[in-house]
Amino acid sequence: MAPVLEPLVLGIESTCDETGVALVRGRTLLADVTATSMDEFARFGGIVPEIASRAHLESLIPTLTAALDRAGVTLDDVDAVAVAAGPGLIGSLTVGTAAAKALAVATGRPVYGVNHIIGHVAVDELVNGPFPESFIALVVSGGHTSLLAVEDIATGVTELGSTLDDAAGEAFDKVGRLLGLPYPGGPHIDRLAQQGDREAIRFPRGLTAGKDKERHRYEFSFSGLKTAVARYVESLQDEGTPLPAEDIAASFSEAVNDVLTRKAFEACQSLGARTLVIGGGFSANSRLRELARERAAEYGIEVRIPPIRFCTDNGAMIAALGSALVRAGVAPSPLDFANDSGMSLSQTHV
Ligand code: KG4
Ligand code: ZN
Repeated sequence: MAPVLEPLVLGIESTCDETGVALVRGRTLLADVTATSMDEFARFGGIVPEIASRAHLESLIPTLTAALDRAGVTLDDVDAVAVAAGPGLIGSLTVGTAAAKALAVATGRPVYGVNHIIGHVAVDELVNGPFPESFIALVVSGGHTSLLAVEDIATGVTELGSTLDDAAGEAFDKVGRLLGLPYPGGPHIDRLAQQGDREAIRFPRGLTAGKDKERHRYEFSFSGLKTAVARYVESLQDEGTPLPAEDIAASFSEAVNDVLTRKAFEACQSLGARTLVIGGGFSANSRLRELARERAAEYGIEVRIPPIRFCTDNGAMIAALGSALVRAGVAPSPLDFANDSGMSLSQTHV
């Protein structure tokens, strides 16, 4: 496909519990509308895929209509349709990709099945301007914690390493459950942590010392930390001592964010990157944002983090990556492309 300089791209996100539809022209966001079924999951303590899929079905058309209205465009104006093709829940993905394919057929426009995780990075261009020539990206969400080397957001993304067990957001949600907080625990732990002492309890930092560090430079592990918090909580409960929830939250949060930022800046340093982009739902975390800025100054590296509303799942991230693919002249996906719930992080699109 010949490159289009300022394509109007419709982006559809439905990998998990958010139905997002956005319109982007070039690198300019025209509209971004999100519906979420998260409220339905608090009582289950986790996402129920079948309920999430049904909610996508109900929300998709109203969300699409609202996004087109807000952008002041019609489907005929759209140059390309982008949709998250993975990674994600297979039922949820199917609703978004089926809709995107139907819109592509109806309008005769190309469709791009894009990588949700790389979308969490791509969205940064809409707020912080064009990316530098190469950079490191740290993507932290409920399902992923990964370091990526990016030469070109459309065509040159390489996975450096990911978590070997839990994702950072997942670890927060599990510790939230231990502390009796509602699901998802991440934002609640963040709030509690702001009132606690980060140094109160020294929790372990996985894969940051000795042979483990050498062997797993760009990888993360949070399951040992989660177990350490569980043991600490159990021992206090056995003694009948009230839980210092704020201090536990602050010390646990510090352990996670210390490892995330340390590994990300060390990756920048050893690979000669001058810029770190942080994205994903977990990058809403206040301590991650603060520590990243502190360490950016120490390392002399520029850090770019989108505003919180672009960190959690949204349509803008998908439209942003779709726009980058169109601008780079990348061929669209075949109309019969398959959803890929375990899509490789080195693959920008299908
Ligand atoms: O990227 P995202 O919206 O969905 C996935 O693709 O997973 O990330 C959701 C995750 C959840 O685990 C949630 O608890 C976590 O991000 N999260 C937070 C905060 N806001 C959301 N974790 C810690 N602190 C926050 N402020
Ligand atoms: Zn996400």
